[in-house]
Amino acid sequence: MNGQDRRISRRAWLAGAGAALAWSASPARALFAIMDARPLPASVEALISQMTLVEKAGQLNLLAAAWAGGAAISLNPAGAASSFDAQLRMVRRGELTGVFNGNGAEMARRMQTEAVHRSRLKIPLLFAADVIHGLRTVFPVPLAEAASFDPDLARRTARAAAVEASASGIDWTFAPMVDIARDARWGRGVEGSGEDVLLSRLMAAARVEGFQGSGLAAPDAVAACAKHFVAYGAGEAGLDYNSVDVSERTLRDIYFPPFQAAFAAGAPTVMASFNDLSGIPATANSWLLDTILRKEWGFGGLVVSDYTGDEELIAHGFAKDGRDAARLAFLAGVDMSMQSGLYLKYLPDLVEKGEVPLARLDEAVRRVLAFKVALGLFDDPFRRIDPAREKARLRPPETLALAREAGARSIVMLRNEGEVLPLPRSGKRIALIGPFAGGGHDLIGPWNVYGTDREAVDLVTAVRETVPDTTMDDGSNLARAVAAARAADIVVLAIGETQNMSGEAQSRTEIVVPAEQQALAEAIAATGKPYVVLLRTGRALALSGAVAKAPALLVTWFLGSQDGPAIADILFGIVSPSARLPVSFPRASGQVPYYYAHRNTGRPNPPGTLQPYKAHFRDYPNSALFAFGHGLTYGNMVYSDLRLSSKTLADTPLTIRATITNTGRMTATEVVQLYIHDVVASVTQPVRVLKAFTRVTLAPGARQEVTFALTRADLSFIDRGLAPTTEPGAFRLWVAPSAEAEGLAGTFTLT
Ligand code: NOJ
Repeated sequence: MNGQDRRISRRAWLAGAGAALAWSASPARALFAIMDARPLPASVEALISQMTLVEKAGQLNLLAAAWAGGAAISLNPAGAASSFDAQLRMVRRGELTGVFNGNGAEMARRMQTEAVHRSRLKIPLLFAADVIHGLRTVFPVPLAEAASFDPDLARRTARAAAVEASASGIDWTFAPMVDIARDARWGRGVEGSGEDVLLSRLMAAARVEGFQGSGLAAPDAVAACAKHFVAYGAGEAGLDYNSVDVSERTLRDIYFPPFQAAFAAGAPTVMASFNDLSGIPATANSWLLDTILRKEWGFGGLVVSDYTGDEELIAHGFAKDGRDAARLAFLAGVDMSMQSGLYLKYLPDLVEKGEVPLARLDEAVRRVLAFKVALGLFDDPFRRIDPAREKARLRPPETLALAREAGARSIVMLRNEGEVLPLPRSGKRIALIGPFAGGGHDLIGPWNVYGTDREAVDLVTAVRETVPDTTMDDGSNLARAVAAARAADIVVLAIGETQNMSGEAQSRTEIVVPAEQQALAEAIAATGKPYVVLLRTGRALALSGAVAKAPALLVTWFLGSQDGPAIADILFGIVSPSARLPVSFPRASGQVPYYYAHRNTGRPNPPGTLQPYKAHFRDYPNSALFAFGHGLTYGNMVYSDLRLSSKTLADTPLTIRATITNTGRMTATEVVQLYIHDVVASVTQPVRVLKAFTRVTLAPGARQEVTFALTRADLSFIDRGLAPTTEPGAFRLWVAPSAEAEGLAGTFTLT
């Protein structure tokens, strides 16, 4: 639509019944109205008073877009069949609040025109999408990006994703996913920031800030949705959708904080999770959605169900039918229903029969309208809908460059014996072997709706930019692969998981490299050639044999549009690896859930050999093969001179200093981490907890002092009364390169 059309359509819309709602909201004011439940403009109330029960229920009814080729269908179980025309008719009747995972500005323009010209009340539609790690420019999967240990990078990629998405008509993203994931069997850990609370909090806040930019009303902002509330990552046995039974203390200590961080950063919406919590499904859990979210935290935003989450109360054995399910979810606090259509179908009748108070219906409608006001949709329903702008904003060079930068900064180097890496840029014959060496597949990773592998650059293409005569073999025939290895000076082995092995409904019982690829690695290792393993994965894997023992080992995840170039940048030393594991890599599948911040037990095994009657498996120690926080660089970082400003911490912060020296031959960036352990407490505390981290970039021979400050608040934990507390006593601390490295150790006392 050109500028003139937009003016006309806007004027026509303003002339309609919704005119009173043309509230020029400053972003801050609009957000305040949502977050603080401050009274909305009187015009919103006036509009609510004009609405029929069906129109009210319609504002709570969100469906997958039916526009031809709508992407939602491929990512979710097939929904109720619906055609685009049928959805347009629903829009005209005021039965639809918006759609999600639709396709582009043209679809949005047609639907919005219907809403603001042909529906009775002319309430604008809302367009949502799963923009999890980019739109058409695909960034690294969120777990990979968490490995950067750089929230600012996540802020920048979320911003760039929002700029692209908003130009395609999208107002609202179902992201960030902020579920802590401590069981690597679960496939959806790939969408989050891993196992650690601090890292997850920082990434959650950064992504919200990035998506929302200068404020919700900005034409290049998309609203964030923190999901999935709550403890979805704690499903038993790592099985997706499975039951969760964790204590309230664990919820408060581990699973709540990333949501609180997202809300503090301004996320105006939250999605209820599929799982039950000790028998009460989250989607019908009034303790969670009302007592905690609304009353304790004062959240004034919108709660949306997950895809058919309300209807699934029937399968849970919690609701007897669709009507019951709608009632239970709605009364518990789910304002908007995604995809089931149950709210539209049953809420009018439930209100008429007195089973749902009208006030509750009005409250939910008010939240939806407040959200639409905050997004600027009442001021200009077409503010994010402009096919020309959409075209100009898709995959611009600067966004692709950011994808490449983010990719290189997400690659974790687990080992580099004898400095196999970086590879020489000439003079050596390189064989690129394995299913992920090339072929343009498995690049963008799971949970991307709009990007395609076709538009991404694969490894062989990127490597040949530097070394044109690199040979490639897909590894499908062992004899041929071995011959290729023998003919080379060095082998780069690209193996791991395909992108459909993680993501929704992709839990695995064995978190190992698939058998054929393990066999390929063994065969390559047996040639005696030096080899580099590039590990494609959406989760922590239990590595063994020739993979675990590879002279050089890089975790490359799924890096998106610039997957190949980002890996090549690291391989050839154009960029030094700086990422760290956001999840512990265990020694065996049977060890999971394994996370570094576990408790000590009453019988910890002392460092060294396994002792009888101590906490370890028959075959393995209770530690990681590659620990959380581990990751090497092309430099060689030496930690020295730990200095604490005091032996005690009282009301002034404790300052912790250490010196980092790069004794290697290349400039590199080190992620220096601060961990603590509360030695004796009224609730047993983890063996270590990450409290801060910082990045230092050092030229060869350079040294730098890093400084951390610890405050009393940093030492708090959830006490027996389920309130945050601190207790005086001894603490240990470490400034270390990983959660299980000794680094520099010290002690202090909290007074
Ligand atoms: C189901 C997923 O659990 C959720 O994360 C996603 O946003 C919705 N489907 C919509 O695609």
